[in-house]
Amino acid sequence: MNITARTKICMIIGDPVEHSLSPQMHNAGYEALQIDDQFVYLASRVNVNDIADFIKGIRAMHIRGISCTIPHKIAVIPYLDKIDAVAKKIGAVNTIVNDEGKLIGYNTDWLGILVPLEKHITLQNKTVALIGAGGAARAAAFAVTKKGAKLAIYNRTIKKAKELAKEFNGEAYSLDEIQNVKSADIIINTTSIGLKQKNKTPIPKKYISNKQIIFDAVYDSEESRLIKEAKKQDAQTISGIEMLLHQGFAQFRLFTGYEAPIDIMRKAIT
Ligand code: ATR
Repeated sequence: MNITARTKICMIIGDPVEHSLSPQMHNAGYEALQIDDQFVYLASRVNVNDIADFIKGIRAMHIRGISCTIPHKIAVIPYLDKIDAVAKKIGAVNTIVNDEGKLIGYNTDWLGILVPLEKHITLQNKTVALIGAGGAARAAAFAVTKKGAKLAIYNRTIKKAKELAKEFNGEAYSLDEIQNVKSADIIINTTSIGLKQKNKTPIPKKYISNKQIIFDAVYDSEESRLIKEAKKQDAQTISGIEMLLHQGFAQFRLFTGYEAPIDIMRKAIT
């Protein structure tokens, strides 16, 4: 451990946050580049009602970088000094950089969706079924439509699906119409269904086929039921760890100014 009085603090905030693998991932990167005297990465559970106080704390303590996870990605926006153009379009911030007292909001989640998907498929004219309409779904909608895919959004609260569909030129469905995902080339889950209740899945197995790619953007220590069942159906699968890694590599660059040592960061959490 090389922490000194000059070491800059980065951290993830969320509620809950204890499951997060971001501290292992970022600190392994600092160590590998021998910048662990310059940066340390922690985690803090912050209640969404305390976000204004937390932002004051960032300023008071000169914290260098913040990763935001559930439920802070939208809540932090009004408190920041500047929002980068992509984060503004997505409408969610997963990264805050403290640039000498100026708090700038970025979004790297969309790269966490795009980079793993493009290793499997060219998105132009493909159909994407997106489950959920929260912060992660907004990043996914931005990523896939940027590359010319056609979007269908499925959400418990249909109003939110319609709002998102309007912004990104997609179609909106309720979860009662989930059977329509059968015709999609790609299915992306961004809901926490299956995270809290491990035996649950947002998509019945019978609607998944070997012609599809199933991306479960939500990560957990064990494989989700959705991914397990997709494998049984011989679909191609992408786990939430891939999203975590690729949004994290871009975040690492924003916090430190260095390229992320990707193999070491991957090894630290897999
Ligand atoms: P994030 O920023 O990670 O995307 P979020 O903004 O809280 O998190 O969004 C969570 C998404 O999961 C929402 O689409 C939510 O549906 P609603 O818009 O209806 O709230 C969805 N979700 C969470 N728990 C769910 C459940 N038990 N059943 C169905 N959808 C659920």
